[in-house]
Amino acid sequence: MGKPVEIAVIGCGNRGRVYAEYALKRPDKMKITAVAEPNEYRRNMTGEIFGVAENRRFDSLDSFLAVGIQVDAVINATMDRDHFETARKIIAAGIDMLIEKPICLNKAELMELHRLSVEKGSKVMVCHVLRYAPFYVEIKKRILSGEIGKVYSMVTEENVSFHHFSTAFVRDKWGNSDVCGSQIMMSKCCHDLDIITWMKNDSTPAYVASMGGLFNYIDENFPRGAGNRCTVDCEIAENCEYDARQMYVKYGKWNYYAREHLDSYEDRESEDRLMQSLSEGNPFGKCVWKCNNNVNDHQTVMIEFEDGCTVSHNLLGGTAKPERTIHVVGTKGEIYGEMEAGVFYVRKPDLSKLQMFTEEMVDVNTGGDGHGGGDSRLAADFIEYISGGSTSISTTDIGDSIYGHLIGFNAHEAMTERKIMKMERL
Ligand SMILES: NC(=O)c1ccc[n+]([C@@H]2O[C@H](COP(=O)([O-])OP(=O)(O)OC[C@H]3O[C@@H](n4cnc5c(N)ncnc54)[C@H](O)[C@@H]3O)[C@@H](O)[C@H]2O)c1
Repeated sequence: MGKPVEIAVIGCGNRGRVYAEYALKRPDKMKITAVAEPNEYRRNMTGEIFGVAENRRFDSLDSFLAVGIQVDAVINATMDRDHFETARKIIAAGIDMLIEKPICLNKAELMELHRLSVEKGSKVMVCHVLRYAPFYVEIKKRILSGEIGKVYSMVTEENVSFHHFSTAFVRDKWGNSDVCGSQIMMSKCCHDLDIITWMKNDSTPAYVASMGGLFNYIDENFPRGAGNRCTVDCEIAENCEYDARQMYVKYGKWNYYAREHLDSYEDRESEDRLMQSLSEGNPFGKCVWKCNNNVNDHQTVMIEFEDGCTVSHNLLGGTAKPERTIHVVGTKGEIYGEMEAGVFYVRKPDLSKLQMFTEEMVDVNTGGDGHGGGDSRLAADFIEYISGGSTSISTTDIGDSIYGHLIGFNAHEAMTERKIMKMERL
């Protein structure tokens, strides 16, 4: 058995730790040998969890690179706005990288990183975790098998529930594109746009149109009796579905995000401390109609491929139920599925049947892991990729991710300028 692959985690927030956990599951395959993170608490907590020596805990990517520690690859889990600069330096240092999505903030940065990685011969894999969710992998296999014929139409939906949407895209850092750097079509739906280009990779996207906006989470909808903070000056909190105390404390939903703002070891797990912070500076204690958010809560993207196939993707932010759906229509049949349910149906026309079609139900075991089982499978595939082992049908390097990202960037331009965008060709 060979040595485990040695990895440095750059950015020890939520995502950095999610991927690093593979080292705990498979210590024979992956070992975290360095961390770089400006936040002292996160740096040391991650260092402790993964047994990283104190002299290998750095306060930034720059100080890690300056020392020249040898690692096999890095996980770049910094925030969207930091991706381009950090990725550029990592590629320039000749280090292979797993980078969080979105890869960067605009087309020019995307092309530049792609160019650099090709020039340097670096492996740059992108965290398109949904490509690893068994639900999408099985659908992809069915399309590849040819059983539904040639795909000419597809509809995908991302229903982001009211609790998820308000937490991440209203109260948190992804809610304001000036802070985060990304529009929601990139920070949330670049997975879906990637899945579309993956399912339809027998052709190339040619045109993009889009409409959308922010409808619900705006000042004008501030309810009578509400206040600036749920736990401080709100008279209607008890009956509000966005009440911070109920959401993050009583029901514990998304409370790891709310707890990111408690920065000492001792108090971090305390409920009282969380309550206190929700009343003070913690952004998760704010009324959702007073959050200075500006990203869309609904948007439709339409894509036409070179071969005439048309696709639409819908972001629906604030739904009761979280759900991703996909409907792929081919010349011989169709596939319809719901990711969270872990079920899809393969239907084919059949005149001899009462309902005039056959239907096969495919139940995919999602395994309880994040992103329909995708998170840990992605980490495992990355380690194989870096070690020169066999890659899977899901392996996504920067080149594979370009069209999905370009659709997202073009969709924003199409929406704001009210025009149809012609896609760039590689
Ligand atoms: N693949 C997915 O499904 C998925 C899900 C959620 C988030 N994300 C993406 O993952 C990324 C990270 O998200 P997060 O929630 O973990 O963010 P986070 O803010 O919790 O973590 C980012 C960390 O990077 C650190 N950092 C900033 N500059 C640095 C530098 N120069 N060197 C080292 N560390 C630096 C920050 O201090 C912070 O702790 C984002 O791009 C986000 O959009 C992806």
